[in-house]
Amino acid sequence: MPVIKIHGMIDPHTHLRDLDWSHKATFETETKAAIAGGYWAVFDMPNTAPSTISDALLSDKLKRIDRVAHCDWGLYFGASQADNSAEYEAIARRVCGLKIYNNSTTGDLLIDSSSMRERHYRAWTTDRLIAVHAEGETVRNIIDLVRKYRQPTHFLHISSEYEIKLLTAAKEDGLPVTVGVCPHHLFLSEDDLPTLGAFGLMKPELKRKSDARALWRAIRLGIVDIIESDHAPHTIEEKGSGEPPYGVPGLETTLPLMMQAVKDGRLSLQKACDMVSLNVQRIWRITPLPKTYTVVDTDHEFLVEGSKLFSKCGWSPFEGMRVCGKVLEVWIRGHKVYDGEQILSESGFGRNLFGFVA
Ligand code: DOR
Ligand code: ZN
Repeated sequence: MPVIKIHGMIDPHTHLRDLDWSHKATFETETKAAIAGGYWAVFDMPNTAPSTISDALLSDKLKRIDRVAHCDWGLYFGASQADNSAEYEAIARRVCGLKIYNNSTTGDLLIDSSSMRERHYRAWTTDRLIAVHAEGETVRNIIDLVRKYRQPTHFLHISSEYEIKLLTAAKEDGLPVTVGVCPHHLFLSEDDLPTLGAFGLMKPELKRKSDARALWRAIRLGIVDIIESDHAPHTIEEKGSGEPPYGVPGLETTLPLMMQAVKDGRLSLQKACDMVSLNVQRIWRITPLPKTYTVVDTDHEFLVEGSKLFSKCGWSPFEGMRVCGKVLEVWIRGHKVYDGEQILSESGFGRNLFGFVA
């Protein structure tokens, strides 16, 4: 395979941490990791500490990330038990979407009652989408809300054959739903847990090999729209503790893993590229910028080494795996921001792709 150019890579599912969790990772370290992974932009989830669940907390986070980001970015607003529907219109103008946590995970943003979920669907009538964490039967509950309110909804980190079946039917019904899948659910399974231990723990958890096969099939059939990393760095010490948190990093391994999958004949090069760029742009209605692209040597093979990553966490669940596809250059808005070795953009160079900051 040749040296290729991918225009406007975006990862719409990352946890950049910072704020009270700066010991895990910071906006600065993780936007550098994003660029090293080939990305133009990353969208940050609201389960930070503190969570992004009020106008004031959003404003604060917008200002902080704006000051230090090396790549372009977007922020999600988090649905909470509080009723901030009166502020939703103003909030929506500054964010990439509303995130609803319908099953439990890191943080305390769980919305587990159907009536509360419906309240958010009723209130969020903006042109920015809703992104949902929904697993198993919960997927069915959310599809019912999409059927009723017709709000474009992105299903994050879909991981099982059953969920794919539900979403295939929803797409056949013409509902405005899109599907994201993470590399760890494609390349790992519960069989890897004895080796990985806590480093293989995330939400949704690793499933059977047959589920991974169903995800690959759904990619080939066009049911899966995008590949998202769910980049969720925790420290090695936290992962090794008695109560390890859920989450694994992925910003710098997603592209090489997908290029390896192309090499292995699992999907076409065009589809792999579209799923990390064009399809993400289409779902979040982003106009690609000129002179914003990634140059990749798709022949360059290497082994994943956690300690060599830019991410502050310094480990990877894919440690030791053979991958291919080295990022040679990243360009954003006509500026070379990565030369294959070093990050060249200044802290604060990155911009909000969704409106203003203050
Ligand atoms: O494994 C996960 N970790 N899944 C999530 O949904 C959240 C994430 C985190 O923030 O650590
Ligand atoms: Zn996540």
